[in-house]
Amino acid sequence: SDGFTVAIDGPAAAGKGTVSKAVAAHFGFSHLDTGLLYRAVGAKVLAGMDAAQAAQMLVADDLENDSLRTPAVAQAASQVAVIPQVRAALLDFQRGFAARAGGAVLDGRDIGTVICPEAHVKLFVTASAEVRAQRRFSELSGRGITDSIEQVLADVKARDARDMERAHAPLRPADDATIIDTSRLSIEQAVAAAVAAVNAVR
Ligand code: C5P
Repeated sequence: SDGFTVAIDGPAAAGKGTVSKAVAAHFGFSHLDTGLLYRAVGAKVLAGMDAAQAAQMLVADDLENDSLRTPAVAQAASQVAVIPQVRAALLDFQRGFAARAGGAVLDGRDIGTVICPEAHVKLFVTASAEVRAQRRFSELSGRGITDSIEQVLADVKARDARDMERAHAPLRPADDATIIDTSRLSIEQAVAAAVAAVNAVR
């Protein structure tokens, strides 16, 4: 690939999105939130479409939708994400994005292990389930979604389990990933750790 690729993986609500956007902005790289691909397929399945077909027909416009950021769509995304045909249909788009001239940051679950095993930098951004549930709870509350903290924690744990235990492309750190545990880090500290990891190889 031509470009410089940064792979950022980790469980739900660990801060991947925030860190990825900040790293991309800092270095002038393009950013792809690959969770949106699975969310867009999940939303189409909730609307009655076949999962593999939805993945094959996905277009850029499908990713622009705010309604993808709901608990129901998150669970549907993790359910379609276990289907090998769905993952296969989304592979080329992600690899093409990773090879962009000018650099790219991709965040997801399997970027360092499956999508971009040759990435120049691999980060695994994680935090305790309780901290992640609290952050997601605050985010959802701020958007008027009234799930209880207990419900959010249960959802996060269910999604973690499904993502880690699936046969194809399970969530795990690549052997050569740098682990960033954000449980006790501010956003600024987490971003600084990620920027430092990129600068170390760049
Ligand atoms: O990152 P986000 O929470 O938006 O991802 C939604 C779901 O999509 C995850 O729980 C996971 O099941 C799936 N996903 C995946 N591989 C990726 C990105 C997301 O399986 N690279």
